[in-house]
Amino acid sequence: MKILVATEKPFAPVAVTQIRDVVENAGHSLVLLEKYKSPQELHAAVADADAMIVRSDIVDAAVIAAAPKLKIVVRAGAGYDNLDLNACTAGNVVAMNTPGQNSNAVAELAFGMMIYAARGGFDGKSGSELMGKTLGLHAFGNVGRCMARIAAGFGMKVYAFDPFVEKTAIADAGVIPVDSIEELYSVSQYVSLHIPANEKTKGSIGERLLSLMPQGAVLVNTARKEVINEPELVALMEKRGDLKYLSDISPDNAELFGQKFPGRYFFTPKKMGAQTEEANINAGVAAGRQIVSFFATGDETFRVNKPK
Ligand code: 3PG
Repeated sequence: MKILVATEKPFAPVAVTQIRDVVENAGHSLVLLEKYKSPQELHAAVADADAMIVRSDIVDAAVIAAAPKLKIVVRAGAGYDNLDLNACTAGNVVAMNTPGQNSNAVAELAFGMMIYAARGGFDGKSGSELMGKTLGLHAFGNVGRCMARIAAGFGMKVYAFDPFVEKTAIADAGVIPVDSIEELYSVSQYVSLHIPANEKTKGSIGERLLSLMPQGAVLVNTARKEVINEPELVALMEKRGDLKYLSDISPDNAELFGQKFPGRYFFTPKKMGAQTEEANINAGVAAGRQIVSFFATGDETFRVNKPK
């Protein structure tokens, strides 16, 4: 089988080598398409692929239509909002993700951004410390758990809200479960977002929740920019000069933040959360193994789309 690795933002070379080993040792071949500039390049590359590994690359109906032999696409990562699941199902393509494989990298980046903000971007003035501050985890999945582990080392008081996780499981991880999302935002000096981007969550973080945050609060977004109601965030930051926003990837209106809120935001130029050698190896190799296992035994563990 021909397995295409299509990554606009490439994996570390060491990860590609390990993915290649997994695929070739199972008797398949690997083709690499990195840093492609247009959907057409992806369409051409996928034309004779039986399987595909992607990251945040868009896999829409046009990609599926361009891939008549495609049987499986694996998003090497957690969030699969870049995959058109209906198009995959319609095209008889199994869609999977690799949950948990890059979570620690994302959590470490969140803390990197928090330290940067707490120390005023290292501008020479007195900043603040994370120890003793409150951290609210909006969702308690794989990344939330890594956040809690790291936050404990920093001596932070950690709260979490997740309607899909038992409160006892949150408490077992040493985190205080709260009863409502409103309570989470009210008690947290830092709120860190770990929700997926879907029809329910898109634009859901806005004035209503953010205005509950205490004085000097910081919103940390390593999830997706789409979950933010950006006009409401901007309006609130105009009203409240104490609020800061840190995001792994620029918002739509990044220039406006530069003009209006100097020193109160930080944006990575490219999505960096999962961009470590370790995370690339973990997620990429998991994706390769899932494809090998699917072709060998029909294993559909981690499938995220419905069958036809
Ligand atoms: C994920 O959902 O796994 C992360 O956002 C990583 O995205 P990336 O592979 O594009 O870096």
